Amino acid sequence: MRTVSLKVMHESMELSYSEKDNQPPFRKFMIAYDKKQKIGENLEKIKIALAGLSFDAGIIEDPLIYNFSDTIVGINHQQIDMGLALTNMLNIPVVSEQAVNTSGLAEAVSQKKKYNEWHLDYFGQYNGKRNYGQEAMLTIGNGYLGLRGAYVEANADSNNYPGMYVAGVYNQLTTNINGRQVTNEDLVNLPNAQYLSFGVDHQNPFKIDKDDIQEIYRSLDLKNGQLSTSMLIQLSTGHLLEIKTTKVADMVNWHRFSIKYDITPVNFTGSLQVYSKIDAAVINGNVERYQDFDQHHIDVTSMSSQDNVVLLAGQTKQSKIQFCVGSTLSLSESTDKLKIQTTNDKQQILQVASVQVTAGQSFSFEKTVAVHTSLETKGDLAAATTADLPHQLFDAISKDTTTYWTDTWKKIDIQIENDISSQKLTRVNLYHLMISGAAKESGKLDASIGARGLHGEAYRGHIFWDEMFFMPFYALHYPKIAKSLLMYRYNRLDAARDYAKSESHEGAMYPWQSGLKGDEQSQFVHLNPVTHQWDPDNSRLQRHVSIAIAYNVLYYVNITGDTTFMNQYGLEMLLSIAKFWISMSHYDSKEKRYNISGVMGPDEFHENYPNSDKPGLTNNAYTNIMVAWLFDQILEIAPKIDKKILTTVENKSKFSHEDLVKMTDISSKLKLSINSSGIIAQFENYFKLPRLDFDAYRRKYGDISRMDRLLKSEGKSPDAYQVAKQADALMAYHLISPKSVEAVIQKLGYKLPNGYLTRNIQYYLDRTTHGSTLSRIVYAVLTAMDQNMDQSWKFFSTALFSDYYDIQGGTTAEGIHLGVMGATILIETRDYGGVHYENNQLSVSPKLPDEWTTIHFKEAFRGNWFDFSISHHLVTVKSEKPAIITVCGKKVNLEANKQEKTTY
Ligand code: BGC
Repeated sequence: MRTVSLKVMHESMELSYSEKDNQPPFRKFMIAYDKKQKIGENLEKIKIALAGLSFDAGIIEDPLIYNFSDTIVGINHQQIDMGLALTNMLNIPVVSEQAVNTSGLAEAVSQKKKYNEWHLDYFGQYNGKRNYGQEAMLTIGNGYLGLRGAYVEANADSNNYPGMYVAGVYNQLTTNINGRQVTNEDLVNLPNAQYLSFGVDHQNPFKIDKDDIQEIYRSLDLKNGQLSTSMLIQLSTGHLLEIKTTKVADMVNWHRFSIKYDITPVNFTGSLQVYSKIDAAVINGNVERYQDFDQHHIDVTSMSSQDNVVLLAGQTKQSKIQFCVGSTLSLSESTDKLKIQTTNDKQQILQVASVQVTAGQSFSFEKTVAVHTSLETKGDLAAATTADLPHQLFDAISKDTTTYWTDTWKKIDIQIENDISSQKLTRVNLYHLMISGAAKESGKLDASIGARGLHGEAYRGHIFWDEMFFMPFYALHYPKIAKSLLMYRYNRLDAARDYAKSESHEGAMYPWQSGLKGDEQSQFVHLNPVTHQWDPDNSRLQRHVSIAIAYNVLYYVNITGDTTFMNQYGLEMLLSIAKFWISMSHYDSKEKRYNISGVMGPDEFHENYPNSDKPGLTNNAYTNIMVAWLFDQILEIAPKIDKKILTTVENKSKFSHEDLVKMTDISSKLKLSINSSGIIAQFENYFKLPRLDFDAYRRKYGDISRMDRLLKSEGKSPDAYQVAKQADALMAYHLISPKSVEAVIQKLGYKLPNGYLTRNIQYYLDRTTHGSTLSRIVYAVLTAMDQNMDQSWKFFSTALFSDYYDIQGGTTAEGIHLGVMGATILIETRDYGGVHYENNQLSVSPKLPDEWTTIHFKEAFRGNWFDFSISHHLVTVKSEKPAIITVCGKKVNLEANKQEKTTY
C-alpha cells in the first residue's frame, strides 16, 4: 500500500512517502508552517508537496488522544482533525499510527474507509453562517418533522438556530414595509423542543460559549440516522464536564424524536441540574434578509404537565393549524423516578431535574419529544401526543430506527468504488432525501417537499419545480413517496384552476411557489435594498412549473406503471395543464405559428425585455419545446385510456374536442428561434442582446455567480444582456433524451445542423454564471451527453459537494438544496451508470467517470427490483423477476435472481 505519513512537529510538518508497506520512506518532505497563515493555507502546502504522487492511505503519527477521533493534531495552538482534512483534500482514508500498530495497516485503513463513507463529521466550534450551515447538514428528521442539527444547549441567536419544522405547517403574516402591506407564507418554525442543558450547583443553565468549550466533535452516522455531539466543557468556575448528546428522529413513529444526554462530571462532586424545555418563544429567524417582516407565527394556547410528561399546545396565527408538542425527561436505565420540578411562563415549559454526582461517574438522561398537528392528526392532539410518550424510549426508538435505516440502505444505497469523497457525499445526499421524504410514504400527509427540505427557512419552505429533480429518486425507490408528492399537487388542482382563471387563462396554472393551499406564494414586488425602491418581481411568470408537474406525472407512471393513479388523478392534471398551455398559445396568422408570451424560463436573470413595460418573455425555448413534447405525450397516451374514464376526465378538466384539435395543431407550430449554426435562442430576440465581458467582471468582483445583483448595483439590468443564471434553453435535454428533443424540434419544422448540440452547450456555458445550484447538474448531464467527461465531472463533483462546502457562501445555513442532491443521484445512475427507462424498456449504456471503478445500485422499474453493478467494461444486472433488457445495444434475457454479465 502506498502511504503518506504526517508528523506534526514544533514548527514544521514532516511528510514521509512510502511505496510499499513496512518499507522505509521513499521520500521525505519538511514543511515549515507559517504561523500567520490559516490552517487551510498550510494544508495547501501539503497538497503541493505531494503533487504528482499517488497513495492509498495516510497515517498520522503521534496524534492527540481523543475518544471521538484518533487523527487530531495541534498546529499553531489550534487543533485540527488532520485525518478528516486530508481525506477531504486527498480523497484517501487517513488512520492513526496507533490504529496501525493495533490492527495492522490494511485492517486500519479498511475500517477507516468504511467509517469515512458512512459519517458526516465536524470538529471544532464554528460561528455564524458556518455553524448554521453545519446545522442544516446535520439535520435529523423523517419527512414529517425536520430538526436542525443545532446544539441542544442552544437558543436561537446569530450562531445557533435550533429550528423544528413539520411538513405542511405554513402560516401567513402581513407586514407593513415602506408603506406597503406585504403578505408572506412561511413554513413555521415550531417551538424548540430539543433544548436540554445542565447547570452545576443550581447555577444558570450552560449556554453554548466558545470560551467554555474545550473540544467539540459532531458526527452524523448515516447508517442509523444518529447525530452525536461530544463536548469537553470547562466552566469559568473550573468545573470540567464531558457531555455526549445523541439525537435520533423516529423513522417508524414519525411524530417523535429522542435525545440521550450523557454527562460526566470530570473534576467535581456535588449537585447537577438538567434543564429541559419546550420553548415557544421562537420566531422564524433563520434567514437574515427576512427579518424586516413579522415572523411571529405561533400562539401558545395551553401548557400542562403530568408525571414526567409536559405538553405545550398552540396554533399558527392565521392558518389556525393546531399543534401539540410534548416531552418527557428521565434517567436512562433507571427505574428511579427523577425528581422533576416543572415551571412555565407564557411561552415555555421547563423541567429541572437535580441529581447528586461524583467525579468520574456518568449520568445518562433522556428526553423524548412527540409532535402532532391538526393537519394529520384528527381528534385530541394532547391525548395523541401523550400516548406517544411512555417512559424511556431512546433505546426503543434507536432500535426501530436502525432497523428502518438498515432496510432502507439495502434499497437506496449507491456504492462507488475508488472514491471515498463521492461515496460519502452520495450517502449524505441519499440521507437528506430520505429524511425529507420518508413519512410521506404513509400517504397520510398532504404535503410535498420544499426546495430546501425540512432543514431551514430559505424560500420560506415553499414547493418549487425542484420536485422534478428529486422525483426520480423517490419514484425508483419509494414510489409511494413519489405518489404522495403528486397527490399534494392533485389536491391543489382547483387552486391552480382558480389561479389560471384569475389571470384570464384556462385550465390549471400551478403557482411558481406553493405552500399550504396551492395559491401563488411568490412575491409580486420586492424591496431593493440599494435603492429602497419597490421593484416588480416577475419570478412567478415561471409558468414552466406546470410543465414540471406534468412531467412528474408522466415520469412516475412510466417508472411504476401505476395506471390507477393515471386514471384517477394523473390524467386530470395532464389535461388541465394542457388546457392552460393551449390558452397560452396564440396564433399569428402572418407567421402561421403559435407564440407563448408573458413567461419566464428557468433562467431567473431574464424577467422581461429591456425597455419594455410588459412582464415576461416570448417563446422561451425550454417552455415551447416542453409544451410541444407534453402535447405529443398526451396525444399518444389518451387513445390508450379506457373510453369511459377518458370521457369522465375530459369532462372534469373541461377538455373539449376543440382543445384536442388545437393541441394537435400547436404541437407542430410553436415558434422557436434557431440561427444558422443551430443555436437555439433562449427566447425570441435573444440574439439581439449584447454579451457581457465575464472576464472583466471576474477581475472586478471575483465571484460573478450572482451577476444579476452585481449588475443591479451598477444600475444595470441583467435583462439587457446575454447572461444566464442557470441552464434554460437546453434544459429539455436534461429531462428527455436528445432524440426526443430533436424529434420535437423537427416536428416544429426546424432543422438542426450537424454538431449543433456541442455548439449550443459551449454557447450557453459561455453565457452562464451558475448562480443557482441547479445549473451545474444540468451542464454535467449536457457535457456528458457531448462526450466531454472531464467537464461533466467538474460540474458534477462541484454539485455533489455544493452543500458540504456551502459553495454559495452562506445559503446552506438556510437549508440544504434538495434539488441538486436529488439530481446528483440521478446523474450517477442515469447518466454515468447509463440506466434508462423508456417505453417500458430498460436499457443500460454506461459512461462511467474515470475517477470511479464501479458503481453499484438498485432501482425498481414497474415493481421489479433490478440490481446493477457497472464498471468500465462490464455491466452486471440481476432482476427479481425475469426480464428482457438492453445493455449497450445488446438484448439481454434476465432470469429471476440470476446475475447476467455483459462486457462492453
Ligand atoms: C433557482 C430556481 C429554483 C429555486 C429554488 C432559484 O435560485 O433559480 O430554479 O427553483 O432557486 O431552489
